[in-house]
Amino acid sequence: MEFEDKVILITGSGSGIGQVTAHLFAKEGGTVVVADINEKGGHETVKQITAAGGKSSFINVDVADYASVENLINKVIQQFGRLDIAVNNAGVLGDLARTAETSLDTWNKVMAVNASGVFYCLKLEIQQMLKQGAGIIVNTASIAGLRGLPNNLAYTASKHAVVGMTKTAAMEYARYHIRINAVCPVFTTTPMFDPKAINQISAGLSDKLKASVPMKRFANPVEIAHTIVWLCSEKASFITGHAIPIDGGLTA
Ligand SMILES: NC(=O)c1ccc[n+]([C@@H]2O[C@H](COP(=O)([O-])OP(=O)(O)OC[C@H]3O[C@@H](n4cnc5c(N)ncnc54)[C@H](O)[C@@H]3O)[C@@H](O)[C@H]2O)c1
Repeated sequence: MEFEDKVILITGSGSGIGQVTAHLFAKEGGTVVVADINEKGGHETVKQITAAGGKSSFINVDVADYASVENLINKVIQQFGRLDIAVNNAGVLGDLARTAETSLDTWNKVMAVNASGVFYCLKLEIQQMLKQGAGIIVNTASIAGLRGLPNNLAYTASKHAVVGMTKTAAMEYARYHIRINAVCPVFTTTPMFDPKAINQISAGLSDKLKASVPMKRFANPVEIAHTIVWLCSEKASFITGHAIPIDGGLTA
């Protein structure tokens, strides 16, 4: 029960990787604040956690809106008095297209959620953690934060931004006992990456992507969640400023 007296905020935990991560923290005794723009998914995560005997509550947030993130952090502090761990995980993929065909709408939306959203969260979480004298943050980036990903210009740009913010903020706040890392998953089976929907974009695309991974499979969300929880544990006490690939060898 490593997280027994910890308050853990996870954005985008109404679905996919964030939801599985919320379950793992709750199993280890943590009080998990589920934050998502999707009320239904967020309430479902809380319902599952509390049904299993865990501690959790939902707060609605749009991470692309600074006032909404301010409201989220204020509510966490009002309700729980502190913020020990934050997982900035909410993200969107955007429409797939080559650079010249990428719409301004896709660019603006993906950058607003994935890049500005992580900045807003980091800014306000770090302010709170400085007051407390310690804290741990994990940002969900992607292998698209470490290499190019054709047909995903905005997504790739946004995830490179997440990796850059992670490294810079980690160096700035290491001396204040705040550790900040990122995880960089490969294709992971969640509602965002549904192999059936991928095949509808182009027949056989899912198999091609799978074949590109040296371990010849997609990631399971629990494999990403375990790495996030480990990074937030005492076992990772000297790790900060890194973007950890969880990719079956793809970026090796
Ligand atoms: N699935 C993959 O293959 C994969 C690979 C690498 C990285 N990632 C990253 O992992 C993270 C989680 O993705 P997932 O695969 O679990 O997808 P998902 O779609 O299942 O979950 C994303 C969650 O983020 C929430 N969200 C979206 N916009 C939001 C906003 N403006 N404010 C608050 N919440 C918002 C959604 O409602 C959803 O619950 C994302 O940052 C994604 O980019 C996913």
